[in-house]
Amino acid sequence: MSAAFPAGNGKVTVPDILSRKSHPTGTSPTKITCLTAYDYPTARLLDEAGVDIILVGDSLGMVVLGYENTLPVTMEEMLHHTRAVRRGVRRALVVADMPYGSFHLSLEESVRSAVRFMKEAGAEAVKIEGGERRLELISRFVETEIPVMGHIGLTPQSLHALGGFRVQGKTKEAADQLVRDAHAVEAAGAFSIVLESVPREIAARITQELRIPTIGIGAGPECDGQVLVFHDLVGLTQSGVPKFARRYANLAESISRAAREYCDDVHSGRFPSDAESYHLPAEVRERWMPRSRA
Ligand code: KIV
Repeated sequence: MSAAFPAGNGKVTVPDILSRKSHPTGTSPTKITCLTAYDYPTARLLDEAGVDIILVGDSLGMVVLGYENTLPVTMEEMLHHTRAVRRGVRRALVVADMPYGSFHLSLEESVRSAVRFMKEAGAEAVKIEGGERRLELISRFVETEIPVMGHIGLTPQSLHALGGFRVQGKTKEAADQLVRDAHAVEAAGAFSIVLESVPREIAARITQELRIPTIGIGAGPECDGQVLVFHDLVGLTQSGVPKFARRYANLAESISRAAREYCDDVHSGRFPSDAESYHLPAEVRERWMPRSRA
């Protein structure tokens, strides 16, 4: 954890995140760290480790709920998991991802969904996928006192329109559009923006041009911060781990080994041992247990 950050009681706030923007001519603040979490124990561990932002991502659908993509994730599922995460966090900023369908129907319905995250689940900000076309929506959320994290590049909720999980911005036109999207998200009032699966050169330019911090995932090292999906980080993702995800542990292997050893021990009678069993108090045992015949 950075010794100089955050100030005061240690709680990370939206202004703290804004203050972590690097300026080409000024000082370079400590990079922002962000990880996803979907449950209480994981959120607690990540928070205690000093992660700045805990994102309850709708990646929940794929890595925890076993859906093929993020489209089926519902508001109720997101609220349920955001509440669990919130209970485990004391320091980090908790950001909830708005699931597909929760901000696509009407402005009023979208604001209602976002307000539910803040009132019912304790989120401190929401994340919305999409660039220029979300300008009005982001402005409306900000007017409603809901801090917004933008998300452009590979936006998994646009999976079918994009034709798959692909690196974005590979033509000049697409690169220009990403820059316009980033500026629109900033102009609408977002306090930070996720850049997912975009060439490093584009992320570097956007980072240089924006006044709000960029948080990269598969967007190179120039971003003001980085985010990864927790299950990729600890080796719990079963398949389709993207090239940009660095694995810091192999929990899948540890869990499989533990489960196999447990089965072996139960089958062989090594588990539970006497030390892992409860005993009656001696006087009750004396009266209650049938005497063995001499
Ligand atoms: O849902 C998610 O986990 C995300 C991150 C990958 C940024 O949107």
